Amino acid sequence: MIRDVLRMGDPRLWQPSAPVKRFGTPELESLLQDLRDTMAAQTGAGLAAPQIAVPLQVVIFGVEKSARYPDAPPVPYTELINPVLTPLSDEMEDGWEGCLSVPGLRGVVPRYTELRYEGFDGQGAKIAREVSGFHARVAQHECDHLLGILYPMRMRDFTRFGFTDIVFPELADAAAD
Ligand code: NI
Repeated sequence: MIRDVLRMGDPRLWQPSAPVKRFGTPELESLLQDLRDTMAAQTGAGLAAPQIAVPLQVVIFGVEKSARYPDAPPVPYTELINPVLTPLSDEMEDGWEGCLSVPGLRGVVPRYTELRYEGFDGQGAKIAREVSGFHARVAQHECDHLLGILYPMRMRDFTRFGFTDIVFPELADAAAD
């Protein structure tokens, strides 16, 4: 079911989320389905459970070829529960981000270039990957939602924060936000 996405300013987005305790349940499968449906409807690169007002540590992400991110390399579709992120070096890089909870805006955010993420899928099977670049960026963005952090809180240069149709006029037709 497509759910409403909370927008920045809603205090529920600032709350840390709780770990999932039981895997393979109908409730968890229903949550994952709602996340899939909602992300697909919005053509997002990722979505975290607190964005649909469910305060659990569940994120999904993946990019095939997105009109919202035409230059982004593909990221495999992933459902990640109770994630733990570990940077593999201190190196960070800047890149543009948007968020379905911050519609109409884009900003440049520093993120770790390489990291390891671990967690579980909906059935409780372990996931562990070492990723870099845009894949690492998307994982950091989504997992930040579980800490109650939205990307503007990670920004350092607010001259590189603006409305999508101003900053990326070529996306104006393709992207709702
Ligand atoms: Ni987001």
